[in-house]
Amino acid sequence: MFEKMFAVLGKMPEPISIDEYTARQNQLYSTFEESDVLILCSSPETIHSNDVHHPYRTQSNLLYLTGWTEPESVMCATMSSGTWKTHLFVQPKDTLKEIWEGRRPGLEGAEKDWPVDHAHSIEEVESTLIDMLSNANRVFHRMGIMSSMDDLVVSSIKNRDRARQRLGTGPISVEDPSNKIAEMRLIKSDAEIEQMKFASDVSSLAHIAAMRHGGKNATENQLQSVIEGFFRYAGTSGWSYPSIVGSGENATILHYKENNSPCTNGDVVLIDAGAEFRGYAADITRSWPTDGTFTEPQKELYQIVLDAQIAAINECVPGNPYTAPHEAARKVLAEGLIKIGVITQTLKEALDSKSGQLKDWYMHNTSHWIGLDVHDVGIYLPNGEPRTLQPGMCLTIEPGLYFGAWRPDVDCPVRYSNIGIRIEDDILVGETGPIVLTERCPKTITEIESIVGKPV
Ligand code: GLY
Ligand code: MN
Ligand code: MN
Repeated sequence: MFEKMFAVLGKMPEPISIDEYTARQNQLYSTFEESDVLILCSSPETIHSNDVHHPYRTQSNLLYLTGWTEPESVMCATMSSGTWKTHLFVQPKDTLKEIWEGRRPGLEGAEKDWPVDHAHSIEEVESTLIDMLSNANRVFHRMGIMSSMDDLVVSSIKNRDRARQRLGTGPISVEDPSNKIAEMRLIKSDAEIEQMKFASDVSSLAHIAAMRHGGKNATENQLQSVIEGFFRYAGTSGWSYPSIVGSGENATILHYKENNSPCTNGDVVLIDAGAEFRGYAADITRSWPTDGTFTEPQKELYQIVLDAQIAAINECVPGNPYTAPHEAARKVLAEGLIKIGVITQTLKEALDSKSGQLKDWYMHNTSHWIGLDVHDVGIYLPNGEPRTLQPGMCLTIEPGLYFGAWRPDVDCPVRYSNIGIRIEDDILVGETGPIVLTERCPKTITEIESIVGKPV
C-alpha cells in the first residue's frame, strides 16, 4: 500500500557521529569549573496497565549528549587529571532479562559504540556517585526525573555538612543544567538538520498518503492509521506527539484527541501529525476537504490562513525577533477577516490582545521551537526581550482559524460554521532566509484539490 510513497522518500541519513556527541559534551563541559559534577538521568518507564509499559522514550538532554536511548541509565561527568570524563551507568548484560525484554548493549557496548569514557553498571551508581560528589562544589542536576538520584544528591550534601564547615569542600550548590543545554540545542547542526529533514519528508509523504486516501466514507481513525502506518513503514519510530485528526466541528478543537468520528462529505478535516526519527520531531498540519473540493466559504478561510502562513514564513530570517512571524500572521489573518466581514473593527483594534476580535478565531501562537522535543527547548524571552532568530534555529509556523459553531463564547458566522483550518510547516532559519523542511507536503488549494481522494 505504501510502496510508491516509499520509493520516492530518499535515503535515510547517517546517524549523528560519535565525534559530534563528544564535541557537544566538550562544549558543555567548557562552561563548567573543575570541581563541578554533571548528572543526567534517563526518564522513568511508565506503566500502561499492569505489567504493560508505554513505549519508552528517554530524556532529550541525555539523548542530545550521548545518543543513549535505554531506560535505567545515568550519565555523569567529572574532571579527572585535568580532563573531563563522561561516565554512563547502564543496565548490564543479563541473558535471562534479554530473553524476555530484548537485547541490551551493556557496559561493553556502551564503551565501544557510544561517546562514553567509562561505562558502569547502574547497580553501582549510588556508591560511585557518592564518591564523585564528595569533592564537588557544584552539582548540575535536574531534580524530579529520577527520585533515587535526587535523594542521593540531597544526602551527599548532608553528608558533607561537617567537611564543608571545616574544609569548605563538598557539594555546596545544586543547579539545573537544562538552560545551558537548551542554548546548545536551540542551534541545530547540519547532522541534526539531516535527521529533521528525514522526519519532515516522511511526515510530508504520510500526509499525502492520507490525502490520497481521501475523506469520502472515511473515518478520522482510518486517516490516522494511514498517516501513522507510513511513519512506521518508512522506518521512523512513530509519532512525535499524538496525532490530531478532526473533521467538521472537531477541526475547531485545537488539541482534539478522540480521532474516532466519521468524516462527513463536504467538511474540512484537519490533520496535525508528525513523525519522530532518531529522537527528532516533525510537526505538520494540513486541512483539506473530505470530498476533494473546497466550498467557497472553506476556500475563503483557507486562502487567508495560507497567505498568513507564507507571510510568517518570510519573517524567519536571521536578525528578526522570534515574534516577527507571529505578528505577520496575525496581521494577514485580521486583514483577511476584515475583508470578508467577520471582523468589524479596524485592523489596529482587531489586533488588540484584550479587546481585538482576531483572538475569537485565532487564539494560539504561530510558532514554537522544534527539535528533539516537538515543543523544543530554548528561552523565548531571554532577559525579557524576544529572542533574535539565528541561522540553525528551527521553528514551526502554524496559523489557523477556528469557527466552532458549538462555542457559547462567540457568535459564529453561519457561512463559516464548523470550519477549522490550520496550516503548519517546520522552518529552518537559513543564513539567507527561511528553509521549509516540510516543503514536500502540498498546501495550495490547487495542489490539494488535485490530490485528495486520488490514489497514486
Ligand atoms: N502538534 C502540536 C503543535 O502543533 O504544537
Ligand atoms: Mn506545532
Ligand atoms: Mn502541530
